Amino acid sequence: MDKIVNGYSKMSKSEKIDWLIHHYLNENSEVRAEIEQFWINDEKLQNTIDGFSENVISNHVLPFSIAPNFLINDKVYAVPMVIEESSVVAAAASAAKFWLSRGGFKAQVISTTKIGHVHFRWTGDAKVFEIESDSIVQRILEETKALTSSMESRGGGIKKIFFKSLTENIEHIYQVEVHFETCDSMGANFINTVLEHIAITLRLIFEEREYCERYFGKLDIIMSILSNYTPECLVRAWVSCTIDELDPDMAHDTTEHLAKKFKTAVDIAYHDPFRAVTHNKGIFNGIDALVLATGNDFRAIEACGHAYAARDGQYRSLSKCTIYEDIFEFSLEIPIACGTVGGLTKLHPMSKLSLEILNHPSAEELMQIICTLGLAQNFAAVKSLVTTGIQKGHMKMHLSNMLNHLGIEGQLAEEVKAHFNDKTISFTAVKEFLAAQPL
Ligand code: MEV
Repeated sequence: MDKIVNGYSKMSKSEKIDWLIHHYLNENSEVRAEIEQFWINDEKLQNTIDGFSENVISNHVLPFSIAPNFLINDKVYAVPMVIEESSVVAAAASAAKFWLSRGGFKAQVISTTKIGHVHFRWTGDAKVFEIESDSIVQRILEETKALTSSMESRGGGIKKIFFKSLTENIEHIYQVEVHFETCDSMGANFINTVLEHIAITLRLIFEEREYCERYFGKLDIIMSILSNYTPECLVRAWVSCTIDELDPDMAHDTTEHLAKKFKTAVDIAYHDPFRAVTHNKGIFNGIDALVLATGNDFRAIEACGHAYAARDGQYRSLSKCTIYEDIFEFSLEIPIACGTVGGLTKLHPMSKLSLEILNHPSAEELMQIICTLGLAQNFAAVKSLVTTGIQKGHMKMHLSNMLNHLGIEGQLAEEVKAHFNDKTISFTAVKEFLAAQPL
Protein backbone atom coordinates (compact mmCIF):
# COMPACT_ATOMS: atom_id res chain seq x y z
CA MET A 1 0.00 0.00 0.00
CA ASP A 2 2.97 2.34 0.41
CA LYS A 3 3.12 2.35 -3.38
CA ILE A 4 -0.10 4.35 -3.56
CA VAL A 5 0.41 8.07 -3.93
CA ASN A 6 -1.76 11.15 -3.74
CA GLY A 7 -0.83 14.33 -5.53
CA TYR A 8 1.81 12.80 -7.82
CA SER A 9 0.85 15.30 -10.52
CA LYS A 10 1.60 18.20 -8.13
CA MET A 11 5.22 17.08 -7.54
CA SER A 12 8.10 18.61 -9.49
CA LYS A 13 9.73 16.45 -12.16
CA SER A 14 12.63 15.76 -9.83
CA GLU A 15 10.32 14.77 -6.95
CA LYS A 16 8.40 12.46 -9.29
CA ILE A 17 11.64 10.68 -10.21
CA ASP A 18 12.72 10.41 -6.56
CA TRP A 19 9.37 8.94 -5.61
CA LEU A 20 9.55 6.41 -8.43
CA ILE A 21 13.09 5.31 -7.58
CA HIS A 22 12.19 5.01 -3.91
CA HIS A 23 8.96 3.04 -4.40
CA TYR A 24 9.53 1.02 -7.58
CA LEU A 25 13.23 0.87 -8.43
CA ASN A 26 14.90 -0.33 -5.22
CA GLU A 27 16.56 3.02 -4.51
CA ASN A 28 18.77 2.45 -7.54
CA SER A 29 20.38 5.87 -7.82
CA GLU A 30 21.84 5.14 -11.28
CA VAL A 31 18.33 5.17 -12.70
CA ARG A 32 18.09 8.93 -12.28
CA ALA A 33 20.99 9.42 -14.72
CA GLU A 34 19.36 6.94 -17.12
CA ILE A 35 16.11 8.87 -17.01
CA GLU A 36 17.80 12.26 -17.30
CA GLN A 37 20.02 11.32 -20.24
CA PHE A 38 16.93 11.57 -22.45
CA TRP A 39 16.03 15.07 -21.35
CA ILE A 40 16.39 17.66 -24.08
CA ASN A 41 18.96 20.38 -23.30
CA ASP A 42 16.77 23.09 -24.78
CA GLU A 43 14.49 23.78 -21.80
CA LYS A 44 11.81 25.52 -23.84
CA LEU A 45 11.57 22.56 -26.18
CA GLN A 46 11.44 20.12 -23.27
CA ASN A 47 8.61 22.16 -21.75
CA THR A 48 6.69 21.91 -25.04
CA ILE A 49 7.09 18.11 -25.07
CA ASP A 50 6.12 17.91 -21.37
CA GLY A 51 2.94 19.79 -22.27
CA PHE A 52 1.76 16.94 -24.57
CA SER A 53 1.08 14.70 -21.59
CA GLU A 54 0.98 14.56 -17.80
CA ASN A 55 3.37 13.31 -15.12
CA VAL A 56 6.20 13.43 -17.64
CA ILE A 57 9.59 12.44 -16.24
CA SER A 58 11.56 11.91 -19.44
CA ASN A 59 11.31 11.24 -23.19
CA HIS A 60 10.98 7.88 -24.90
CA VAL A 61 13.11 7.84 -28.03
CA LEU A 62 12.11 6.02 -31.21
CA PRO A 63 14.06 6.06 -34.48
CA PHE A 64 13.02 8.68 -37.03
CA SER A 65 13.83 7.31 -40.51
CA ILE A 66 13.35 8.24 -44.13
CA ALA A 67 12.05 5.97 -46.89
CA PRO A 68 13.03 7.78 -50.11
CA ASN A 69 11.93 7.39 -53.75
CA PHE A 70 8.16 7.17 -53.32
CA LEU A 71 6.58 8.14 -56.63
CA ILE A 72 2.92 8.87 -55.90
CA ASN A 73 0.67 10.36 -58.57
CA ASP A 74 3.80 11.44 -60.46
CA LYS A 75 5.30 13.32 -57.50
CA VAL A 76 8.37 12.05 -55.62
CA TYR A 77 8.38 11.94 -51.81
CA ALA A 78 10.90 11.07 -49.11
CA VAL A 79 8.65 9.60 -46.44
CA PRO A 80 9.43 10.05 -42.72
CA MET A 81 8.78 7.00 -40.57
CA VAL A 82 8.84 6.57 -36.79
CA ILE A 83 9.15 2.88 -36.04
CA GLU A 84 11.29 0.62 -33.89
CA GLU A 85 10.98 -2.62 -35.88
CA SER A 86 13.98 -3.87 -37.87
CA SER A 87 13.54 -4.05 -41.63
CA VAL A 88 10.25 -2.13 -41.91
CA VAL A 89 11.90 1.02 -43.32
CA ALA A 90 14.22 -1.04 -45.54
CA ALA A 91 11.17 -2.90 -46.89
CA ALA A 92 9.31 0.35 -47.58
CA ALA A 93 12.35 1.83 -49.34
CA SER A 94 12.84 -1.27 -51.46
CA ALA A 95 9.13 -1.35 -52.46
CA ALA A 96 9.33 2.36 -53.35
CA LYS A 97 12.38 1.73 -55.58
CA PHE A 98 10.72 -1.30 -57.14
CA TRP A 99 7.60 0.65 -58.18
CA LEU A 100 9.57 3.76 -59.13
CA SER A 101 10.59 2.07 -62.37
CA ARG A 102 7.09 0.70 -62.97
CA GLY A 103 5.10 3.93 -63.05
CA GLY A 104 5.00 4.46 -59.30
CA PHE A 105 1.96 4.40 -57.02
CA LYS A 106 -1.41 5.91 -57.78
CA ALA A 107 -3.68 7.16 -55.00
CA GLN A 108 -7.09 8.75 -54.80
CA VAL A 109 -9.20 10.13 -51.97
CA ILE A 110 -12.72 8.73 -52.24
CA SER A 111 -14.42 10.63 -49.42
CA THR A 112 -13.57 12.82 -46.40
CA THR A 113 -16.62 12.69 -44.10
CA LYS A 114 -16.16 12.37 -40.34
CA ILE A 115 -18.91 11.33 -37.98
CA GLY A 116 -20.00 12.07 -34.43
CA HIS A 117 -22.97 11.31 -32.20
CA VAL A 118 -25.00 12.69 -29.36
CA HIS A 119 -26.32 9.58 -27.64
CA PHE A 120 -29.46 10.12 -25.61
CA ARG A 121 -32.36 8.47 -23.86
CA TRP A 122 -35.89 9.44 -24.88
CA THR A 123 -38.93 7.86 -23.24
CA GLY A 124 -41.52 9.60 -25.40
CA ASP A 125 -42.99 8.94 -28.81
CA ALA A 126 -40.29 8.33 -31.43
CA LYS A 127 -42.47 10.05 -34.04
CA VAL A 128 -41.02 13.32 -32.80
CA PHE A 129 -37.78 12.50 -34.61
CA GLU A 130 -39.61 12.19 -37.93
CA ILE A 131 -42.16 14.97 -37.61
CA GLU A 132 -39.99 17.56 -35.85
CA SER A 133 -36.68 16.54 -37.43
CA ASP A 134 -36.38 19.50 -39.84
CA SER A 135 -37.11 22.15 -37.24
CA ILE A 136 -34.79 20.55 -34.66
CA VAL A 137 -31.96 20.29 -37.20
CA GLN A 138 -32.53 23.91 -38.21
CA ARG A 139 -32.33 25.05 -34.60
CA ILE A 140 -29.15 23.00 -34.04
CA LEU A 141 -27.54 24.59 -37.10
CA GLU A 142 -28.43 28.07 -35.84
CA GLU A 143 -27.20 27.40 -32.29
CA THR A 144 -23.87 25.96 -33.47
CA LYS A 145 -23.19 28.68 -36.05
CA ALA A 146 -20.68 30.50 -33.85
CA LEU A 147 -18.65 27.30 -33.51
CA THR A 148 -18.84 26.20 -37.13
CA SER A 149 -18.52 29.47 -39.08
CA SER A 150 -14.70 29.48 -39.20
CA MET A 151 -14.63 25.85 -40.44
CA GLU A 152 -17.39 26.75 -42.94
CA SER A 153 -15.29 29.58 -44.32
CA ARG A 154 -12.65 26.93 -45.17
CA GLY A 155 -15.24 24.75 -46.92
CA GLY A 156 -16.04 22.51 -43.95
CA GLY A 157 -18.54 22.33 -41.12
CA ILE A 158 -21.66 20.26 -40.50
CA LYS A 159 -22.79 18.41 -43.63
CA LYS A 160 -25.72 16.36 -42.36
CA ILE A 161 -27.71 15.80 -39.16
CA PHE A 162 -30.26 13.07 -38.57
CA PHE A 163 -31.79 10.93 -35.83
CA LYS A 164 -31.06 7.23 -35.42
CA SER A 165 -32.70 4.70 -33.15
CA LEU A 166 -30.81 2.08 -31.15
CA THR A 167 -34.02 0.90 -29.49
CA GLU A 168 -33.88 -2.54 -31.10
CA ASN A 169 -30.93 -3.26 -28.86
CA ILE A 170 -31.22 -0.77 -25.99
CA GLU A 171 -34.60 0.47 -24.85
CA HIS A 172 -35.23 4.22 -25.33
CA ILE A 173 -31.77 4.93 -26.73
CA TYR A 174 -31.36 7.21 -29.77
CA GLN A 175 -28.59 9.17 -31.44
CA VAL A 176 -28.21 12.38 -33.32
CA GLU A 177 -25.71 11.47 -36.02
CA VAL A 178 -23.74 14.40 -37.38
CA HIS A 179 -21.55 14.31 -40.49
CA PHE A 180 -18.66 16.75 -40.63
CA GLU A 181 -16.11 18.00 -43.10
CA THR A 182 -13.02 19.14 -41.23
CA CYS A 183 -10.77 20.16 -44.18
CA ASP A 184 -7.07 19.92 -43.30
CA SER A 185 -7.58 19.20 -39.61
CA MET A 186 -8.24 15.77 -38.14
CA GLY A 187 -11.01 17.66 -36.40
CA ALA A 188 -11.47 15.69 -33.16
CA ASN A 189 -11.59 18.79 -30.95
CA PHE A 190 -13.85 20.67 -33.36
CA ILE A 191 -16.25 17.73 -33.68
CA ASN A 192 -16.42 17.06 -29.94
CA THR A 193 -16.96 20.74 -29.11
CA VAL A 194 -19.79 21.01 -31.65
CA LEU A 195 -21.36 17.75 -30.44
CA GLU A 196 -21.36 18.90 -26.82
CA HIS A 197 -23.05 22.09 -27.91
CA ILE A 198 -25.62 20.12 -29.90
CA ALA A 199 -26.34 18.09 -26.77
CA ILE A 200 -27.06 21.27 -24.80
CA THR A 201 -29.27 22.56 -27.61
CA LEU A 202 -31.15 19.29 -27.83
CA ARG A 203 -31.83 19.25 -24.11
CA LEU A 204 -33.05 22.84 -24.27
CA ILE A 205 -35.37 22.08 -27.20
CA PHE A 206 -36.92 19.14 -25.40
CA GLU A 207 -37.31 21.09 -22.19
CA GLU A 208 -39.55 23.49 -24.00
CA ARG A 209 -43.05 22.71 -22.88
CA GLU A 210 -44.73 21.97 -26.16
CA TYR A 211 -42.36 19.11 -27.01
CA CYS A 212 -42.84 17.43 -23.67
CA GLU A 213 -46.59 17.83 -23.70
CA ARG A 214 -47.09 16.75 -27.27
CA TYR A 215 -44.87 13.66 -27.14
CA PHE A 216 -44.90 12.88 -23.37
CA GLY A 217 -41.20 12.15 -22.98
CA LYS A 218 -38.10 12.99 -21.10
CA LEU A 219 -34.76 13.44 -22.81
CA ASP A 220 -31.56 12.51 -21.04
CA ILE A 221 -28.19 13.08 -22.71
CA ILE A 222 -25.91 10.06 -22.29
CA MET A 223 -22.77 11.31 -24.08
CA SER A 224 -21.47 13.31 -27.02
CA ILE A 225 -18.43 12.05 -28.89
CA LEU A 226 -16.95 11.66 -32.34
CA SER A 227 -16.75 8.20 -33.86
CA ASN A 228 -13.28 7.01 -34.77
CA TYR A 229 -14.96 4.73 -37.29
CA THR A 230 -14.88 6.83 -40.47
CA PRO A 231 -15.74 4.50 -43.37
CA GLU A 232 -16.59 7.56 -45.43
CA CYS A 233 -13.16 9.12 -45.00
CA LEU A 234 -11.71 6.72 -47.50
CA VAL A 235 -8.58 6.59 -49.61
CA ARG A 236 -7.31 4.09 -52.18
CA ALA A 237 -3.78 3.43 -53.42
CA TRP A 238 -2.75 0.98 -56.09
CA VAL A 239 0.09 -0.26 -58.28
CA SER A 240 0.03 -2.29 -61.44
CA CYS A 241 2.48 -3.78 -63.92
CA THR A 242 2.68 -6.60 -66.38
CA ILE A 243 3.39 -9.96 -64.82
CA ASP A 244 6.76 -10.06 -66.60
CA GLU A 245 7.82 -6.87 -64.81
CA LEU A 246 7.12 -8.37 -61.41
CA ASP A 247 10.51 -10.05 -61.18
CA PRO A 248 12.48 -9.31 -64.34
CA ASP A 249 15.54 -11.20 -63.07
CA MET A 250 13.42 -14.34 -62.87
CA ALA A 251 15.27 -14.92 -59.64
CA HIS A 252 12.18 -16.46 -58.12
CA ASP A 253 10.77 -19.22 -60.24
CA THR A 254 8.71 -17.86 -63.13
CA THR A 255 7.12 -14.44 -62.85
CA GLU A 256 3.70 -15.96 -63.52
CA HIS A 257 4.13 -18.38 -60.63
CA LEU A 258 5.28 -15.52 -58.41
CA ALA A 259 2.23 -13.41 -59.35
CA LYS A 260 -0.10 -16.34 -58.62
CA LYS A 261 1.55 -17.11 -55.29
CA PHE A 262 1.37 -13.44 -54.34
CA LYS A 263 -2.33 -13.28 -55.19
CA THR A 264 -3.00 -16.54 -53.32
CA ALA A 265 -1.27 -15.12 -50.23
CA VAL A 266 -3.56 -12.07 -50.35
CA ASP A 267 -6.61 -14.28 -50.96
CA ILE A 268 -5.68 -16.38 -47.91
CA ALA A 269 -5.68 -13.17 -45.84
CA TYR A 270 -9.09 -12.30 -47.27
CA HIS A 271 -10.62 -15.60 -46.12
CA ASP A 272 -8.66 -16.47 -42.97
CA PRO A 273 -8.82 -13.98 -40.07
CA PHE A 274 -5.70 -15.51 -38.48
CA ARG A 275 -3.68 -14.59 -41.54
CA ALA A 276 -5.64 -11.35 -42.09
CA VAL A 277 -4.55 -9.89 -38.74
CA THR A 278 -0.85 -10.44 -39.51
CA HIS A 279 -1.30 -9.27 -43.10
CA ASN A 280 -2.99 -6.06 -41.93
CA LYS A 281 -0.41 -5.63 -39.15
CA GLY A 282 2.16 -5.44 -41.94
CA ILE A 283 0.09 -2.69 -43.59
CA PHE A 284 -0.04 -0.78 -40.30
CA ASN A 285 3.75 -1.10 -39.94
CA GLY A 286 3.85 1.53 -42.67
CA ILE A 287 0.71 3.47 -41.82
CA ASP A 288 1.47 3.88 -38.10
CA ALA A 289 5.07 4.92 -38.79
CA LEU A 290 3.99 7.89 -40.93
CA VAL A 291 0.97 8.69 -38.79
CA LEU A 292 3.28 8.90 -35.76
CA ALA A 293 5.89 10.93 -37.63
CA THR A 294 3.28 13.52 -38.58
CA GLY A 295 1.81 13.77 -35.06
CA ASN A 296 -1.49 12.14 -35.97
CA ASP A 297 -3.52 9.77 -33.81
CA PHE A 298 -2.34 6.26 -34.67
CA ARG A 299 -4.74 4.63 -32.18
CA ALA A 300 -7.74 6.17 -33.93
CA ILE A 301 -6.47 5.23 -37.38
CA GLU A 302 -5.65 1.66 -36.29
CA ALA A 303 -8.99 1.12 -34.57
CA CYS A 304 -10.82 2.43 -37.62
CA GLY A 305 -8.80 0.37 -40.07
CA HIS A 306 -9.46 -2.85 -38.18
CA ALA A 307 -13.19 -2.11 -37.92
CA TYR A 308 -13.21 -1.44 -41.67
CA ALA A 309 -11.42 -4.75 -42.25
CA ALA A 310 -14.36 -6.44 -40.50
CA ARG A 311 -17.13 -4.40 -42.15
CA ASP A 312 -18.92 -7.40 -43.67
CA GLY A 313 -18.89 -9.31 -40.38
CA GLN A 314 -15.58 -11.13 -40.88
CA TYR A 315 -12.12 -9.69 -40.33
CA ARG A 316 -10.39 -9.67 -43.75
CA SER A 317 -7.30 -8.39 -45.55
CA LEU A 318 -7.45 -4.68 -46.29
CA SER A 319 -5.53 -5.06 -49.56
CA LYS A 320 -6.59 -6.81 -52.76
CA CYS A 321 -4.68 -8.42 -55.58
CA THR A 322 -6.04 -9.07 -59.07
CA ILE A 323 -4.46 -10.68 -62.09
CA TYR A 324 -6.26 -9.90 -65.32
CA GLU A 325 -4.73 -11.35 -68.46
CA ASP A 326 -1.06 -10.33 -68.05
CA ILE A 327 -1.68 -7.40 -65.67
CA PHE A 328 -0.91 -7.65 -61.97
CA GLU A 329 -2.70 -5.08 -59.78
CA PHE A 330 -2.34 -4.63 -56.05
CA SER A 331 -4.44 -2.11 -54.11
CA LEU A 332 -5.33 -0.91 -50.64
CA GLU A 333 -8.52 0.88 -49.64
CA ILE A 334 -8.71 2.16 -46.09
CA PRO A 335 -10.27 4.97 -44.04
CA ILE A 336 -7.63 7.43 -42.80
CA ALA A 337 -8.79 10.36 -40.65
CA CYS A 338 -5.69 12.52 -40.41
CA GLY A 339 -4.80 16.18 -40.36
CA THR A 340 -1.99 18.49 -41.39
CA VAL A 341 -3.07 21.39 -39.18
CA GLY A 342 -4.06 21.43 -35.51
CA GLY A 343 -3.28 18.87 -32.82
CA LEU A 344 0.41 17.96 -32.53
CA THR A 345 1.07 18.40 -36.25
CA LYS A 346 2.76 21.77 -35.91
CA LEU A 347 3.48 21.70 -32.16
CA HIS A 348 5.83 18.73 -32.15
CA PRO A 349 9.02 19.87 -33.89
CA MET A 350 9.55 16.46 -35.52
CA SER A 351 5.95 16.37 -36.81
CA LYS A 352 6.39 19.84 -38.20
CA LEU A 353 9.61 18.71 -39.85
CA SER A 354 7.89 15.60 -41.24
CA LEU A 355 5.26 17.76 -42.91
CA GLU A 356 8.00 20.00 -44.27
CA ILE A 357 9.80 16.96 -45.71
CA LEU A 358 6.53 15.99 -47.39
CA ASN A 359 6.30 19.53 -48.80
CA HIS A 360 3.37 20.67 -46.64
CA PRO A 361 0.66 18.32 -47.88
CA SER A 362 -3.06 18.92 -47.45
CA ALA A 363 -4.89 16.33 -45.32
CA GLU A 364 -6.09 14.66 -48.54
CA GLU A 365 -2.56 14.42 -49.91
CA LEU A 366 -1.35 13.01 -46.59
CA MET A 367 -4.16 10.39 -46.70
CA GLN A 368 -2.80 9.30 -50.08
CA ILE A 369 0.80 9.10 -48.88
CA ILE A 370 -0.20 7.15 -45.75
CA CYS A 371 -2.27 4.68 -47.76
CA THR A 372 0.56 4.26 -50.28
CA LEU A 373 3.05 3.53 -47.51
CA GLY A 374 0.69 0.87 -46.12
CA LEU A 375 0.43 -0.69 -49.58
CA ALA A 376 4.20 -0.55 -50.15
CA GLN A 377 4.85 -2.20 -46.81
CA ASN A 378 2.31 -4.91 -47.55
CA PHE A 379 3.77 -5.49 -51.01
CA ALA A 380 7.29 -5.90 -49.62
CA ALA A 381 6.12 -8.24 -46.83
CA VAL A 382 3.99 -10.49 -49.03
CA LYS A 383 6.63 -10.60 -51.78
CA SER A 384 9.29 -11.75 -49.37
CA LEU A 385 6.90 -14.18 -47.67
CA VAL A 386 6.20 -15.97 -50.96
CA THR A 387 9.85 -15.91 -52.10
CA THR A 388 12.78 -15.77 -49.67
CA GLY A 389 10.76 -15.85 -46.45
CA ILE A 390 10.59 -12.96 -44.01
CA GLN A 391 13.40 -13.98 -41.66
CA LYS A 392 16.25 -13.36 -44.11
CA GLY A 393 15.79 -9.58 -44.14
CA HIS A 394 14.60 -9.46 -40.55
CA MET A 395 17.53 -11.34 -39.08
CA LYS A 396 20.07 -9.33 -41.10
CA MET A 397 18.80 -6.21 -39.36
CA HIS A 398 18.55 -8.06 -36.10
CA LEU A 399 22.21 -9.05 -36.42
CA SER A 400 23.18 -5.36 -36.37
CA ASN A 401 21.17 -4.93 -33.15
CA MET A 402 22.87 -7.99 -31.61
CA LEU A 403 26.31 -6.65 -32.54
CA ASN A 404 25.46 -3.28 -31.01
CA HIS A 405 24.23 -5.01 -27.90
CA LEU A 406 27.47 -7.03 -27.65
CA GLY A 407 29.58 -3.92 -28.31
CA ILE A 408 31.06 -5.42 -31.51
CA GLU A 409 32.03 -2.90 -34.15
CA GLY A 410 34.48 -2.14 -36.97
CA GLN A 411 36.32 -4.95 -38.75
CA LEU A 412 35.04 -7.67 -36.43
CA ALA A 413 31.40 -6.60 -37.01
CA GLU A 414 31.98 -6.80 -40.78
CA GLU A 415 33.47 -10.30 -40.40
CA VAL A 416 30.46 -11.47 -38.40
CA LYS A 417 28.07 -10.06 -41.04
CA ALA A 418 30.02 -11.70 -43.86
CA HIS A 419 30.05 -15.02 -42.02
CA PHE A 420 26.28 -15.00 -41.43
CA ASN A 421 25.40 -13.81 -44.93
CA ASP A 422 24.31 -17.31 -45.95
CA LYS A 423 23.73 -18.84 -42.51
CA THR A 424 20.91 -18.93 -39.99
CA ILE A 425 21.36 -16.10 -37.50
CA SER A 426 20.73 -16.59 -33.80
CA PHE A 427 22.14 -14.99 -30.68
CA THR A 428 23.80 -18.27 -29.66
CA ALA A 429 25.32 -18.79 -33.12
CA VAL A 430 26.72 -15.23 -33.10
CA LYS A 431 28.20 -15.69 -29.62
CA GLU A 432 29.74 -19.04 -30.62
CA PHE A 433 31.29 -17.50 -33.73
CA LEU A 434 32.73 -14.64 -31.67
CA ALA A 435 34.12 -17.02 -29.04
CA ALA A 436 35.92 -18.95 -31.77
CA GLN A 437 37.73 -15.85 -33.06
CA PRO A 438 41.38 -15.37 -32.11
CA LEU A 439 41.84 -12.67 -29.46
C1 MEV B 1 6.02 -8.10 -39.43
O1 MEV B 1 6.10 -6.92 -38.65
C2 MEV B 1 4.95 -7.95 -40.48
C3 MEV B 1 4.67 -9.20 -41.31
O2 MEV B 1 4.41 -10.30 -40.43
C4 MEV B 1 3.49 -8.89 -42.17
C5 MEV B 1 2.96 -10.08 -42.93
O3 MEV B 1 3.10 -11.23 -42.46
O4 MEV B 1 2.36 -9.85 -43.99
C6 MEV B 1 5.87 -9.58 -42.11
